[in-house]
Amino acid sequence: SFQESAPKTWPKAKLTPNARVILEKRYLKQENGKVIETPEDMFYRVANVIAEVEERYGKGKKEVKELAKEFYAMMANLEFMPNSPTLMNAGRDLGQLSACFVLPIEDSMEKIFDAIKFAAIIHKSGGGTGFSFSRLRSKNSTVRSTGGVASGPVSFMKVFNAATEAVKQGGTRRGANMGILRVDHPDIQEFISCKEDNKEITNFNISVGITEEFMKAVKERRDYDLIDPHTGKAVGKLSAPEVFHTIVDHAWRNGEPGIVFLDRLNRDNPTPKIGEIEATNPCGEQPLLPNEACNLGSINLKLLVTEKNGKAVVNWERLSYVTRQAIHFLDNVIDANTYPLPMIEEMVKGNRKVGLGVMGFADMMILLQTSYASEDAVEYAEKIMNFIQTEARLESQRLAEERGTFPNYEGSIYDGVRKLRNATLTTIAPTGTISMICGASSGVEPLFAVAYTKTVMDGTAFVEVNPIFENYAKEYGFDSSELMRKIADKGTVLGFSEVPDWVQAVFVTAQEIDPEWHIRIQAAFQKYTDNAVSKTINFANSATREDIAKAYELAYELNCKGLTVYRDGSRDEQVLSAGTSQ
Ligand code: CDP
Repeated sequence: SFQESAPKTWPKAKLTPNARVILEKRYLKQENGKVIETPEDMFYRVANVIAEVEERYGKGKKEVKELAKEFYAMMANLEFMPNSPTLMNAGRDLGQLSACFVLPIEDSMEKIFDAIKFAAIIHKSGGGTGFSFSRLRSKNSTVRSTGGVASGPVSFMKVFNAATEAVKQGGTRRGANMGILRVDHPDIQEFISCKEDNKEITNFNISVGITEEFMKAVKERRDYDLIDPHTGKAVGKLSAPEVFHTIVDHAWRNGEPGIVFLDRLNRDNPTPKIGEIEATNPCGEQPLLPNEACNLGSINLKLLVTEKNGKAVVNWERLSYVTRQAIHFLDNVIDANTYPLPMIEEMVKGNRKVGLGVMGFADMMILLQTSYASEDAVEYAEKIMNFIQTEARLESQRLAEERGTFPNYEGSIYDGVRKLRNATLTTIAPTGTISMICGASSGVEPLFAVAYTKTVMDGTAFVEVNPIFENYAKEYGFDSSELMRKIADKGTVLGFSEVPDWVQAVFVTAQEIDPEWHIRIQAAFQKYTDNAVSKTINFANSATREDIAKAYELAYELNCKGLTVYRDGSRDEQVLSAGTSQ
């Protein structure tokens, strides 16, 4: 219904060579192995499909065209990017636009294998799936119909894992899963250690679902009850401090399991009458009800710094505009989307959740000459996310006035408080690929390195020197290829006397930052985020188990919804590796 090529007069996308390679590999249309679409055509395709939704709400062709142009500009300028499935699939056969799904697993053979089938369908389209295995009866409990014994959640996770492995080959991207088990499930100890061997259950991230009751028992150094998922009755006891220690020990060894604070997810569940939240998507930032999906998008903060009286400042005016357009865009995605299953469509259209977040926060701090590990950065994080959430709600309210509230509004936490079009608005995604497309630091993470090698899924490696660092080097007179090479080998600028002290402070990298600052930044964003925040808390290789335990306690204290830790060098294969030597 629209021409395929972007009009010549529309702005061109300012993509880095790396970004072009990524787009050509998996995002742009191909025919017989040849790319037949430019990045501009892709943004045009996406903008048109998402803007055309206006027609369903009574808008005319002219308005659709104007909106399409605004959506296009936001993407081509790299100021806003929807999640990968939207870029890949809008206006194409798959038409599946969401990154995040949660599927229920009921305790019967039929339901378990239904979930595996549904996950395969979702993976094929580039979506990731999260599951709670908490409803499955424990290992060795009886199976009435056969008189045999149950094999338990962990053994079924291996079946899900194998299915994902098989689908992986043909999909648009590698299928990702999240597996969650409640800490009071009788099989919790087996679950905590199920990824001890790095080669097992590789297509899953795992997280222990922590309850308030458990945290209380840890604090009081006492036992807590294990609950039979069928009867709801206590069937055993474990020492809470010991289980806590086991989780910490495993996380210290190889970063898994993570933890999620289940009661907190439900405290902020906007539609408690519709269901209970038991799981999140694969990277943990999106808690969802069973059979719910969510589409994400991120604002590139790197581009939202401007100059005022010779000083770098946040461009609030532009941030307001981009936030509003982004929410409009994401709400339209819900209608433009092709859903993999009817029950998912029903759930998504009932709550109309979207997840707008940010990328390039670390870049923004650098441009504002502020260290990520500072009170000022925490303050910026709060101020920016508060602003985005406020603007997002205003836009959702405007859309509600025009199109109606989300259908499950009645009985929701917003009922009688504020009419909104969407049950949730904000989520901080990892932005693993879209941040590379935008040439920005990922999500709210600090720089991983000033120069680094990044390996993407198919094994291609990129060497990158931070472009802002290159600019500063020229501007402040320490630009030498010799120095750049040394920095690239080391990954950091700390200790290079040629580099001014303030530049060293501003280019602080993930592993140099005290975990406390990592967590405080996560907490600052969480404060103004409806859903959750994707964040990895980096530790030096020398960090102790006590350091990890303290981090968990701090995250709990500061109201985070979960925590993922990673100790440098604790896994054989790292996605990101500092320096060019690895
Ligand atoms: O940058 P991009 O939009 O590609 O994705 P992201 O922000 O890194 O990840 C957002 C979500 O997409 C994850 O939390 C997963 O739910 C999903 N995802 C996935 O299913 N498979 C992947 N290989 C990467 C992401």
